[in-house]
Amino acid sequence: MPGVRAAVQSMKPYVPGKPVEDVQRELGLSDLVKLNQNENPLGPSPRAVAAAQAAMAEVHTYPEGTARRLRNRLAEMWDLPADWFLVGNGSDEVFRLLAEVYLEPGDRVVVPVPSFAAYRFVAELMGAEVVDVPLAGWTMDLPAMADAAAESGAKLLFLCRPNNPTGAVFAEADLRAAMERVPPSTLVVVDEAYREFDATPFDSRALVRDYPNVVVTRTFSKIYGMAGFRLGYGIMRPELLAPIWTARDPFSVNGLAVAAGLAALDDTEHLARTLAVTREGKAYLYAAFERLGLACVPSEANFILFDAGRPAAEVFDRLLRRGVLVRPCASFGLPNHLRVTVGTAEENRRFVEALEAVLKGD
Ligand SMILES: Cc1ncc(COP(=O)(O)O)c(C=O)c1O
Repeated sequence: MPGVRAAVQSMKPYVPGKPVEDVQRELGLSDLVKLNQNENPLGPSPRAVAAAQAAMAEVHTYPEGTARRLRNRLAEMWDLPADWFLVGNGSDEVFRLLAEVYLEPGDRVVVPVPSFAAYRFVAELMGAEVVDVPLAGWTMDLPAMADAAAESGAKLLFLCRPNNPTGAVFAEADLRAAMERVPPSTLVVVDEAYREFDATPFDSRALVRDYPNVVVTRTFSKIYGMAGFRLGYGIMRPELLAPIWTARDPFSVNGLAVAAGLAALDDTEHLARTLAVTREGKAYLYAAFERLGLACVPSEANFILFDAGRPAAEVFDRLLRRGVLVRPCASFGLPNHLRVTVGTAEENRRFVEALEAVLKGD
């Protein structure tokens, strides 16, 4: 057997959650309220599904590798040139390509802690050294991250806005102030996976235009309800993108996903419905946490982080036995916290009922 790359040898494998069918079978549950991965509880836009179904007729042909139609549509939407857009197999692929193209073993990557695990994953995969910067008050400590990038000569710095798992945001002015201290040779990736849920002012278009080292990423997995299609994109200068076009898998984004993505962008009604369900759901959940005396973090995303006030693993297990799946946050370094996705009114009600029973010890 050939030797495994040192970087891979020292990585821990990603442990995905158990498949929902397995959980249901093992616990004898007839249905499960799935609030663990921040998916859209309304599902995808019916127009996206119809577009993918229509595109099935072409599935014997290779997809147009650069997702040109989608890039043109995004360019219109963002009022930026189409050659600033990279469409990926989820935003995960965009992070991975940035790491593959820009990181040498031993390079530094600044990441917020706790935040989305993929940033650390792609850095470690390339043998880079991860510089952890703890959050300040549930959001990024931008001055500390900028200093860490300057001191370590980091190649990449990841920001998540709203942050997963906290749902908190930072102000554009604070990022602009921090950018004064970030070296121009550090790529600053602003992951906006949950941005469509966030109504606070933040002009990522202006940021990507004003700073040649800023990359913005978005996904179709969250508000567009298309996580299973694996579709996301990055926005950056064509100079940054050129080597990525060389390195990428030419057919990583399939044609069904692109067709669905185009239709999803047009379905503003579905987006509005999703936003309304999320807004109402959040208000209901905040009130429930308050009533139950549980501290939670105000969220600009479609999930809420809350302190169970006891080891959350136990609360997680007991919620699951009652048919409610949430996200335990020990892997984020928060052993007493759980993260719950905002579901439909009925799903939220079932979650609160189950939580209330678990806390009472029923
Ligand atoms: C902050 C954040 N970024 C990116 C992603 C992944 O997005 P995609 O499905 O586009 O790879 C997630 C998914 O959970 C996320 O929470």
